[in-house]
Amino acid sequence: MCGIVGYTGGQEASPLLLDGLKKLEYRGYDSAGIAVQNDGVLRMIKASGQIANLVEKTDGGAALPGFTGIGHTRWATHGAPTDTNAHPHMSNDGKFAIVHNGIIENYAALRQELTDRGFVFRSETDTEVIVHLLDMYYRGDLKAAVMHTAARLEGSYALGVLCADQPGKLCAIKMASPLILGVGVGENFFASDVTALVSHTKNVIYLEDGEFAELTPENITVYDCTGKPVSHSVSRVVWDVEAAEKGGYDHFMLKEIMEQPRALKATIEPRIRNGRIVLDDFDDAFRVCFADVRRIVITACGSAYHAGMVGRYLIESLCRVNVEVDVASELRYRDPIIDDQTLLIAVSQSGETADTIAAIKEGKNRGAKVLSIVNVVGSTIAKLSDYVIYTWAGPEIAVATTKGYTTQLAVLDLLSVWMARERGLLTGERYDELVKGILALPERTQRSIDLNPQTGYLAERYRDNTSLFFIGRNMDYAVGLEASLKLKEISYLHSEAYAAGELKHGTIALIEPGRLVVALACLDSLFDKTMSNIKEVKARGAKVMAVAREGSRRIFTEADDALFVPATDPLLTAIPEIVPLQLFAYYVAKANGCEIDKPRNLAKSVTVE
Ligand code: M6R
Repeated sequence: MCGIVGYTGGQEASPLLLDGLKKLEYRGYDSAGIAVQNDGVLRMIKASGQIANLVEKTDGGAALPGFTGIGHTRWATHGAPTDTNAHPHMSNDGKFAIVHNGIIENYAALRQELTDRGFVFRSETDTEVIVHLLDMYYRGDLKAAVMHTAARLEGSYALGVLCADQPGKLCAIKMASPLILGVGVGENFFASDVTALVSHTKNVIYLEDGEFAELTPENITVYDCTGKPVSHSVSRVVWDVEAAEKGGYDHFMLKEIMEQPRALKATIEPRIRNGRIVLDDFDDAFRVCFADVRRIVITACGSAYHAGMVGRYLIESLCRVNVEVDVASELRYRDPIIDDQTLLIAVSQSGETADTIAAIKEGKNRGAKVLSIVNVVGSTIAKLSDYVIYTWAGPEIAVATTKGYTTQLAVLDLLSVWMARERGLLTGERYDELVKGILALPERTQRSIDLNPQTGYLAERYRDNTSLFFIGRNMDYAVGLEASLKLKEISYLHSEAYAAGELKHGTIALIEPGRLVVALACLDSLFDKTMSNIKEVKARGAKVMAVAREGSRRIFTEADDALFVPATDPLLTAIPEIVPLQLFAYYVAKANGCEIDKPRNLAKSVTVE
């Protein structure tokens, strides 16, 4: 939520900042702004709407010359998405400009105090208090002003600070919001995410909470909150520039759907050695921990929660361990039964989701061991966890997750088979069969893409349905939840997913002639049951688009249309099954002219509670 970027070096800052903001636009896109230092003066330009408006208003950056600057792309929390509320925010005397990602929880009290002291507020944001605090504490020593200011703030913040008095210098401060420093040659950067850095440098420093850094073109010095210098090693980013580009596709979402076979391969293959599943370098340590585990709680939000739902079916079926799946924003509000014999599995693409972070902290306080499934290396969730299994999906830019979700499923497949073997619950033959099935998932996923060229046509046919239902049982139901979210978040059609047997307990009242019901029927063992539910909605005039196994002819005895999924072990069906539904959601949104990669009101990484 919100993206920040900073540059100091020998090049014009503005075009670089605009380029960085474009890469971060998925973090928030309701307004944007940049500020640049030039000859001891700070100047800024802000624009509501997408970055393109800012590019136009700044003439591609030419309107703001200078070699040191900061930029921001906003997802509004405090105050409407207007030019005035957009960042940067400037002090009354024009000496400081700041950009901020996060929330200042004590801003109301600080605002009152600063107003009483004569500072004039121009925006409705929580952020503006920070710039006035800096101004108040500044006596020519930027580091001291930053430390005093940070000590007054409660909440989360990644901050970039520019000071008119300090040519070529930037300050970057981190507390519970992502912030990464980019180490260049004769130039240095900061950004919320490596995607904004990789076209300039792959050498990065991950700041810890409470740390701040001073950046000049030649140096980066990192300090702890007491002002003591701390040394950091420089890490090398593995993502390449192309990974964060559209590569010829109309949208990032379509590119990311198509990348799934490759992302799955990268996630699965290094973890299968000589026919055995190996959990990276913590296999042995986790074995000791897992021996004591009596229950498993999976916690996550949105699509990652839906991955957790699939995980529950998998783990309970294979490992015979009790599994609960909890929406992360609810977990800590219900006095959960979590103790030192609980394994908490946190699932998150970004690794920065505030609710998931809070759920992990709650679990740790109650003694649970935490294993996280995360895509972003060095993210907050990765750092908080006892064990991390990375999904090697590469950067995911589209707000609607696709490859992030399927690689989470792949890790859950690997993990549950690993755990079942550990508990001695699989014969050698079944283990080999499952491992082979997991290794085949990239190819099955590609087959799922190839099998369904009709998705665009079906999307055209059903695009006018303003309200629809997804039904399925067991794993089909869990996949339906994700398919429904995918459709609603990018096409704005109302849709809901129901356990197929549950529909008749009330919701069937909404079925009327012409209503679209998407029926997921990929599990042979439940096929007849789901067919009965299809008959129930057909009898009330619904149109049915089914998702069925490749070669299933019986489906057409009831369904009007069908998408097909290649034969897979029933426990591993979720990945190939979601793919045609991702494509369906994509094409419906496209047919309806929606903003696919940046749907309204959403942001990629939800760093507020
Ligand atoms: O980064 P995370 O996986 O923790 O994000 C969780 C959800 O915010 C995310 O999955 C969201 O539901 C997506 N927009 C779904 O496409």
